[in-house]
Parts: sequence; structure tokens; C-alpha cells
Amino acid sequence: MSVQERTYIMVKPDGVQRGLVGNIISRFEQRGFKLIALKLVHATPEHLEKHYADLKGKPFFPGLIKYMASGPVVAMVWQGLDAVKTGRVMLGATNPLASAPGTIRGDFALAVGRNICHGSDAVESAEKEIALWFPEGVVQYTNDSEKWVFE
Ligand code: PPS
Repeated sequence: MSVQERTYIMVKPDGVQRGLVGNIISRFEQRGFKLIALKLVHATPEHLEKHYADLKGKPFFPGLIKYMASGPVVAMVWQGLDAVKTGRVMLGATNPLASAPGTIRGDFALAVGRNICHGSDAVESAEKEIALWFPEGVVQYTNDSEKWVFE
């Protein structure tokens, strides 16, 4: 647990095509997280295979790579207290069937194969994902609102 904790959040191609980028960014801003990296990327299958390397044996893997390579994604790094766990709560359960209303997937998604967004599942995977998607590094700056969000 750290105020400096970072998580990798990605709006998937369906979220971009459906015009949900602004809504998703707003949710993280409003919650009190600090945006430290952001870009629109049309990722190659090779890059996505690295991102999802742990899932290589899964039956849905080829379809997942095809879906994720079908259009641009918005890659972001958000920083703040418990960013990884709170980010996952904000996304909602992976399968929208189980996602609570009020979460991103619970509000916008119906199918696991079109579930709008990705969020790191642990601090270690967040650091790996940030290094993969932002090899150039993130942006360092002071955000004055932090003193109103943290004790
Ligand atoms: S697993 O099987 O428990 O390892 O999978 P899970 O942790 O639930 O999900 C890992 C990522 O795979 C995506 N996923 C799918 N994509 C397409 N179709 C199907 N059926 C499917 N099942 C799982 C899921 O959204 C996770 O991706 P991210 O990007 O982390 O959301």
C-alpha cells in the first residue's frame, strides 16, 4: 500500500469505438488518482502477446489478441493510494455478468470478450505492464490536489 502506487489502465478497442474514453478518465480523476502517462496506441499482435503472455494457453487467447489488435487502445498510468486494488474495483468483475452497477463494466459491458477496459491485477504486474507500454517512462509533476486527497 502506497500513495505512490501505480497501476496500468487500458481502454480497450470497444471502449474507444463506443466513445467511453472521457467517462473512464473522469472516473479515475474524480476518485482522486493522478494521471502520469497517457497515449492512444494501435498495438501489434506481437506486443499484445507480450502483454497477455500469462494467458497463452487459454482457449480464448487468439480471439483476445485479435480483439485487442482490432483498433486503438488508450494506455494510461494512474497513481495514488492502493491504485491497483481500487482500480480493479472501479473496473468491476472481469465478466460483466458479475460486474456491479456503478463499475465501468457494470455500467457499460455485457460480454467478457468485449469488457471495455483492463486494469493490472497486482503491483508487480502493474510495473511490468507500465514498462511494456511506456518504455519511455512516465511524467513527473506536482499535483496540488494531492494535499486534499491524502492526509
Ligand atoms: S483466467 O482464465 O482466469 O486466467 O482469465 P481472467 O483472469 O478471468 O481474465 C484474464 C484476461 O482474459 C480476458 N478474458 C477473455 N477475453 C476474451 N474472451 C474470453 N472468453 C475471456 N475470458 C477472459 C479477460 O478480460 C482478462 O483480460 P483483461 O485485459 O485483464 O481484462
